[in-house]
Amino acid sequence: MSSNILDDLLASFRKFLDDVGVGLNPLTIGVTLFVLLVPPLLLFILALGQREEPLPPPPGCRKIGLIGKSNLSDQYSKQYAHGSDPSPASSWAVKALFIYPIKSCSGIELDKSEVIRTGLRYDRQYTLGQQVTGLPTMEGKVKSEWTFITQRTFPRLAKVETEIWVSDPKAPGYSEEAEYVKSEGCLVVRFPFLPDTEFTVEGLKAYGRILAARLSGKPEPMVEFRVPFNPPQERIRNMRYRNVEVKIWKDTPVALDMGCEVPEETMEKLRYTLGVTNPISLFRIDTKKYREVFKCAPKKQEVGFQPIIGMADSYPMHILNLASVHNVASNLPKNPKRLNALRYRANVYITGPPAFSEDDWAKARIGDGTYHISCRTTRCKLPNVDPETAIADRNEPGTTMRKYRVIDKGSQSACLGMQVTPLTEGEIEVGDEVEVLEEGEHFFLKE
Ligand SMILES: *[C@@H]1O[C@H](CO)[C@@H](O)[C@H](O)[C@H]1NC(C)=O
Repeated sequence: MSSNILDDLLASFRKFLDDVGVGLNPLTIGVTLFVLLVPPLLLFILALGQREEPLPPPPGCRKIGLIGKSNLSDQYSKQYAHGSDPSPASSWAVKALFIYPIKSCSGIELDKSEVIRTGLRYDRQYTLGQQVTGLPTMEGKVKSEWTFITQRTFPRLAKVETEIWVSDPKAPGYSEEAEYVKSEGCLVVRFPFLPDTEFTVEGLKAYGRILAARLSGKPEPMVEFRVPFNPPQERIRNMRYRNVEVKIWKDTPVALDMGCEVPEETMEKLRYTLGVTNPISLFRIDTKKYREVFKCAPKKQEVGFQPIIGMADSYPMHILNLASVHNVASNLPKNPKRLNALRYRANVYITGPPAFSEDDWAKARIGDGTYHISCRTTRCKLPNVDPETAIADRNEPGTTMRKYRVIDKGSQSACLGMQVTPLTEGEIEVGDEVEVLEEGEHFFLKE
């Protein structure tokens, strides 16, 4: 802006002030400067913050998931509290479906899903892990190993959002050679990152990102990265993927270390957000080395296949009866007696059966599929984490559950929900009818 124009502007501004009858005293100058300078400054900071644009959608891919309101949006309604015998008027049915591509992170709701040997397709194929170095042995040897992390110790994992994009010839940018078309699509990971604010350019940028996030309705700015869903051999070689043993409970499956796909700075931000002190990385189960399940799962001699899982705790699928969650909620000491069923991270939420009738199921039909109800789900402290706030309650609902849900002779833990092994592969859909084919005894077996 040349000084001529500036002079002109100032002159006409003076004239304007004279016209409306206020002089150019310090107060008006102050107010005017404030009005003139603050909004542009805010806009400037905002612009700085938005410089980091969201990545465009992965070419040739389509996002999967339910569009619109969650099928659990009316989960607290009293109509789901009691259940009844199945009849044409009140059938037992699938209420909602969820997958959790990364163990212990936020899930994706679906209206239908493919059912494969490992459970719902895309479920628990990944886990985040930390590298833990033990104390030296008497001989002075130090061992360091990768171990899975969960919300039990890192509740902020509940804030890590995931998306699955599958390759689709109808999606924009599709070609057989497109990066993520060659890898069965991609996994998008998004997590909140709230940097410390300071008066530097970086600090201002960070503040801009916070401002931009608040304006778009998010409490915190999000950081995003994506990895190929199932990297092809060529990419595994080129990117020098490492095969690493990752400890999950007492199991140590070999997994692909996907860390090479994630910028170092992004991984550091994730580590900061989660509050992990050790190095972390993202691991994918090797699709040729799924983990075999024994314990209460059906035997290979009986069903003709060995049950397998990815990064799930112990069985391919997990189902939960909403009436049972209502029952636990009604016994909570605090009001309102509400308990978000999502705390239990089931794949299949059902309605219809009276509370806890599933405790004795042995085999069921859901839609066209047949399912072996393998055992009861024993509960750790994880459901104490509120999936919406990622805050862990010290006691509830764990304490309430221990009062009356330690029901399995094989375990000291409270039980809720059932571990399931699909006997058929096919599809499962919201609204599918649920029919119990066999009832039986359950006895929880540890590893
Ligand atoms: C839930 O699922 C059914 C069946 O797919 C659907 O018709 C319904 O509109 C869904 N939404 C809600 C909010 O319940």
